[in-house]
Amino acid sequence: MDSGIDWHWARAALDWQLELGADEAIGEAPVDRFALEAAEQAARAQPAVAQPERGGAPAPMAAPVGPDAVQLATEAAKAAGSLEALRASMEAFEECELKRGARNLVFSDGVAGARVMIVGEAPGREEDLQGKPFVGRAGQLLDRMLAAIGLNRASTVYITNVLPWRPPQNRDPRPDEIAMMKPFLVRHIELADPDLLVIMGNISCDALLGKRGITRLRGKWAEAEGRPAIPMFHPAYLLRQPAMKREAWADLLELQARLKALG
Ligand code: URA
Repeated sequence: MDSGIDWHWARAALDWQLELGADEAIGEAPVDRFALEAAEQAARAQPAVAQPERGGAPAPMAAPVGPDAVQLATEAAKAAGSLEALRASMEAFEECELKRGARNLVFSDGVAGARVMIVGEAPGREEDLQGKPFVGRAGQLLDRMLAAIGLNRASTVYITNVLPWRPPQNRDPRPDEIAMMKPFLVRHIELADPDLLVIMGNISCDALLGKRGITRLRGKWAEAEGRPAIPMFHPAYLLRQPAMKREAWADLLELQARLKALG
């Protein structure tokens, strides 16, 4: 059906609003939020009609994922014999809806084959624009953290993310999106072949260790994809909670000591 609106025009108009700083979709009619709250309270007072047990914000609705999306990703990832082939295979992968809202695939940065591989969560706005991981404020902090123990992306570190496309409004990736893209991440690690993995933040712990709880997990060596892996606070979290930098520093020293011990 022809709605009269050209897709490219609409996309350009949205991009323009984002450039202006709009980060929320607001309807044309005003919303009476007091009335909404009253309705929610009334609904909560109803006898149990299978309410979810979680508190807090509702999880984003999972889009119906073809049952074979993970299988397709697994086959595509396995078939990639090099990092270039893996990147091409991810570029060609059409099953993840995040791809349609993203400007660029964010594959990696740093030196392939470096001893340390950092796995972040998902690209943000800057990363989406530049097609490189960790180039925004969190990335600048990451660079300073690495420099403090003599590492850098120009020669000693390789960096990627669990998800290669930016989730809309930087929302958390959904479990089905993580599961779908995990085969690519696993192959990415195999092909980059680092000695050690640094797992940044809860989403990455979820993807690689199968658990969350970064406050408990951080600084303790675990094993991921057959390699020693150290979970750390995500630099974006450290920007919000600078007091936690003390723990992050301890974890960096632990990483440095392990590298030295490995020779
Ligand atoms: N946060 C991440 O986890 N990865 C990026 O690339 C940028 C911010």
